[in-house]
Amino acid sequence: MNKNIGIYVHFPFCKRKCAYCDFVSFPNLELESEYVSLLIDEISSSDVKGKISTVYFGGGTPSVLHAENIEKVLSALKNLSNAEFCPTELTIEANPESLTYEKALFYKKIGFNRISIGVQSFDDSVLKICERLHNAETALNAVKIATDIFDNVSCDLIVGLPGQFVDGLTESIEILNKFNVKHVSCYTLQLEEGTRLYNRVQSGKLSLPSEDEVCDAFNAVKQKLNALGFNRYEVSNFSKLGYESRHNLSYWQRINYIGYGISAHSLIDNVRFNNPSTFAEYKETVLNGKRRFETVLSVDDVRFEKLMLGLRMTKGVDVDCFAGYESILNRYKDFFDFNGDKVSFNDRGFEVMNSILIDFM
Ligand SMILES: C[S@@+](CC[C@H](N)C(=O)[O-])C[C@H]1O[C@@H](n2cnc3c(N)ncnc32)[C@H](O)[C@@H]1O
Ligand code: SF4
Repeated sequence: MNKNIGIYVHFPFCKRKCAYCDFVSFPNLELESEYVSLLIDEISSSDVKGKISTVYFGGGTPSVLHAENIEKVLSALKNLSNAEFCPTELTIEANPESLTYEKALFYKKIGFNRISIGVQSFDDSVLKICERLHNAETALNAVKIATDIFDNVSCDLIVGLPGQFVDGLTESIEILNKFNVKHVSCYTLQLEEGTRLYNRVQSGKLSLPSEDEVCDAFNAVKQKLNALGFNRYEVSNFSKLGYESRHNLSYWQRINYIGYGISAHSLIDNVRFNNPSTFAEYKETVLNGKRRFETVLSVDDVRFEKLMLGLRMTKGVDVDCFAGYESILNRYKDFFDFNGDKVSFNDRGFEVMNSILIDFM
């Protein structure tokens, strides 16, 4: 059987680390060429069998790399001998300050058909607190470049940032809609230990909006997006009809995927693989052809993953997934919608989903 496979490639470079971010990324751009060679080694020596159905170049910031390096990595994927390269969706992430017309045109020329821009906010003072390298004008310019060149453009926003106003958020969505952006990822700020934002909040130098305020802001965003024809298809993701991210859907549907690069992980037939999170360890793994860290999922693990990931989607999961969990489902019935053989979180359920899911573990 020729199974579908999603491919993720991690580019861990950022010009500067944002105050809130704890993704695996660092500013050592001098490692770019070496990293790209390692990636190509890792890709070429991997045995991928099946149909590559989606490709996602994420980070970090893929757009800070030389565009020719992006092309080299994509070519390595196209040259995999046992896989059929026939993706319907190829996404690249870009930060506003590093996206130019030339780069966007080049990405399109080499095959990308979707671009995701990390806008976060259109409010200069909020962007400054986040220590982003762009301001609102740069973000607008990037959205213009992206939408001039690509039909399928996604933008990321963060809700719950210090100094943020609900009006500002809903205006941001109007702006994105005016530019005909088709997909919006709206993340709630996660205050990650060890980040500069975390330290400032801990030391009392900065305060965050309360949980209720964040919830109200998210609801306002959701309503605005709905009113403009964006459908919420996952906890944090909204799109115009037909523009759902196929790649991200494959994670939540547990379709096989392979991740290349530092900290990337993979799921192949109920086995999870993880790449190391430091450059030195990743380099050693690739050069020595060592096996990646692997976890074989038990039947219970798979069952829990199906629930945990499937319930992130508004379409929910088959009621069969709750076999053995009926009493817990019944306890939380007010947080779910029941539709034929499908069960999904309702709006209230999405607000508290993490605490409910713990009980299914
Ligand atoms: C890993 S980043 C990569 C995108 C790109 N480097 C950028 O920042 O524009 C993907 C998205 O995760 C979100 N993100 C990162 N850290 C976050 C945090 N602590 N809380 C909520 N969202 C976060 C941001 O919206 C960001 O655009
Ligand atoms: S949010 Fe994006 S640009 Fe900022 S540090 Fe994280 S990955 Fe890099």
